[in-house]
Amino acid sequence: MSYYIIDGGHRLEGVVTISGSKNAALAIIPATILSGKPCRIENLPQIEDVRALFEILELLGARVNIDTDGGLLIDPTTIDNSDVTCEKVKALRASYYFLGALLGRYGEVRVALPGGCPIGPRPIDLHIKGMKALGAEIKIEDNIIHARCKQLVGAEMYLDFASVGATINIMLAASRAVGVTTINNAAKEPHVVDVANFLNMCGAKVRGAGTDIIRITGVKTMHGSTYAIIPDQIESGTFMIAAAATRGDVILKNIIPAHLEAISAKLMESGVRVTERDDGREYYLRVQSDVRPRAVNIKTLCYPGFPTDLQQPMMALLSVAKGESRITETIFEERFNHVKELVRMGANITLHDQVAIINGVDTLKPADLYATDLRACASLVVAALMAEGESRVYNIKYMDRGYEFLEKKLIAVGAVITRKDD
Ligand code: UD1
Repeated sequence: MSYYIIDGGHRLEGVVTISGSKNAALAIIPATILSGKPCRIENLPQIEDVRALFEILELLGARVNIDTDGGLLIDPTTIDNSDVTCEKVKALRASYYFLGALLGRYGEVRVALPGGCPIGPRPIDLHIKGMKALGAEIKIEDNIIHARCKQLVGAEMYLDFASVGATINIMLAASRAVGVTTINNAAKEPHVVDVANFLNMCGAKVRGAGTDIIRITGVKTMHGSTYAIIPDQIESGTFMIAAAATRGDVILKNIIPAHLEAISAKLMESGVRVTERDDGREYYLRVQSDVRPRAVNIKTLCYPGFPTDLQQPMMALLSVAKGESRITETIFEERFNHVKELVRMGANITLHDQVAIINGVDTLKPADLYATDLRACASLVVAALMAEGESRVYNIKYMDRGYEFLEKKLIAVGAVITRKDD
């Protein structure tokens, strides 16, 4: 089991360059299939989930190469099957995007039900409902979804929940349908907009991404493009929280400040200084703190609300805040697996259904910590950076799935962290 040894109590100071968005990359890579032509994707994070998608694309027959500038060349013209049932798929949530992409492009797909982090039930009924509304025939047997259609036809639909995955999946399939598809109560997350922008660069007609209503006019043909993925909102937020937690002074580059408003607002409410700058070439954010944070209440919501993916790292910070904080998780049912680990470090946290009540303690003490999912791992790393002394964070395979060069980036700003691969 790989783990980090973290000698906590060191202030983070310096510059961090944020990588490309994981969640945008995980949708844009399968979306290249719809273009039917070679595409070049830039600002791609080098993470395990992305590498898993390369493998799946290669099994489909596509050619995948990294060029000398780090761009990813995907040539989908050699795809010769639409079977996405390999073992890799079972561990990966975003494998569901092959459903919309292959169905839209080839009219048939077999895809294994997706895996991903254990953070509660993660149904895909809205994805299925969307594909059926577009005219697909769907059977689910032995955990394999088999979808097919002669021709997808645009339709009007309403999502019972503004699901990121369902919104993107329907957008993918509808790009190659005949006629207009309207998604009401669509997700508005930055990566939904990024995928729409990519599709449009390839000749699709997606309008309204970033609002509640997305309209997609299906097109007969698409073409390749070169596209740079947006910076990762969640990685940015994690470093902002880590900077605040260590009472540090960190400048974040390659960020989009508008995507970070909810996290900036909550950090500022807790007494952290967050300043936005524009040096004429790019935006950057500076996060500074030299005092104990104040308690704040947080409710996770769909964008532009506070992202569920930052709830766990934020809880680590609030566990040493002055006063009582409440975190209400409204998106996922079991996203509190990190709590027992924080409690072992001396945090005073009690759970009441979907609400965590955190009574801030003066300091956390180091411990051996076990991560159960990606963002829980981020939470434990933040906690270990704060706690003076040596902590070990086990199960960092989760971190490898979603954060590019995490330990290198942390070391560059003063963290004392060693990776051990057993
Ligand atoms: C995506 C992100 C994940 C993030 C989440 C919420 C990717 C690969 N992952 O996950 O990092 O935490 O958005 O911002 O982009 N739901 C249904 N039926 C469905 C689909 C979803 O009931 O068919 C429910 C889920 O159980 C959950 C809620 O909707 O309670 C949100 O899920 P969704 O927005 O779809 O998240 P994911 O796409 O899984």
